Amino acid sequence: MEEVKKIWLNGELVDWNKANVHLLTHTLHYGGGVFEGIRAYKTKNGPAVFRLQEHVDRLFYSASVMDIKVHFSKEEIKKAILDTIRINEVEECYIRPLIFFGYGKMGLNPTDAPINIAIAVWPWSAYLGKEVVSVKISKYIRPHPKSTVTDAKICGSYANSILASLEIKKAGFDEALLLDYQGYVAEGPGENIFIVKDGKLFTPKLGAILGGITRDSIIQIAKDLKIGVEEKNITVEELKSADEAFFTGTAAEICVIGRIDDTVINNEKTGIITKKIKEAYTKAIHGESEKYSRWLSHINLTE
Ligand SMILES: Cc1ncc(COP(=O)(O)O)c(C=O)c1O
Repeated sequence: MEEVKKIWLNGELVDWNKANVHLLTHTLHYGGGVFEGIRAYKTKNGPAVFRLQEHVDRLFYSASVMDIKVHFSKEEIKKAILDTIRINEVEECYIRPLIFFGYGKMGLNPTDAPINIAIAVWPWSAYLGKEVVSVKISKYIRPHPKSTVTDAKICGSYANSILASLEIKKAGFDEALLLDYQGYVAEGPGENIFIVKDGKLFTPKLGAILGGITRDSIIQIAKDLKIGVEEKNITVEELKSADEAFFTGTAAEICVIGRIDDTVINNEKTGIITKKIKEAYTKAIHGESEKYSRWLSHINLTE
């Protein structure tokens, strides 16, 4: 991991190596915190954060699910994110806001535990590190929507993603794919999924998955490109007979799926529709598309 200078912690900028917590921090034991994953990209007008408002909205939504009252406003958190990027002088970075129950209270009910907020940024290249990935359907399924709140980014929920990732790595695949409790295609450990069939895009409908902000961007881009897009239940058979398939996510960006278990998809190549969407998305994140400039929050480097 590439270290930078400062981490924002409860309103202060702390040296990277001094942003530490006590071993009896509540969230470290029970996973009751919430977090976000955001990216800033290089543009001709300096670094810009992609869809900052939507990520901060989701962070506050996740916090509300955990009954956490955030002691900063959304405007303050947005400013803190932009400030942390500026102070660390990074041109492109991943951004990790984390809200967690701190030290001073143990036992599962976190009421009265102190609330802490951290924002770390660091340069982080493409998450899966490959243009085309192999995918294995995991033996683990996504939690039932009544077992947790599937559209919130709760730290502890990611144990499910970790288990699936460990399982498929042992089998020699690049990434896992999890089904939902009904046996339909759900999502990756940290990515949404799209398939292309006969020129049209399909993605699992909301309910048992995280409503990805990249997923939303891709749906909007596809509509603007006049590519049909439908949110529906997708079976494993439909997935394996797709013409193209790709993952989307802030960390993974758009990542082509070349194989699912033993089934090769589109000769392990980037398909025509995926290419079109990827080009439009790449332009959008780098500020080369007027249409999507509303999705960017620029960092004022001279502040
Ligand atoms: C389980 C899961 N699904 C999908 C995504 C993609 O969401 P986004 O595009 O908002 O990063 C993520 C990443 O946050 C995730 O953790």
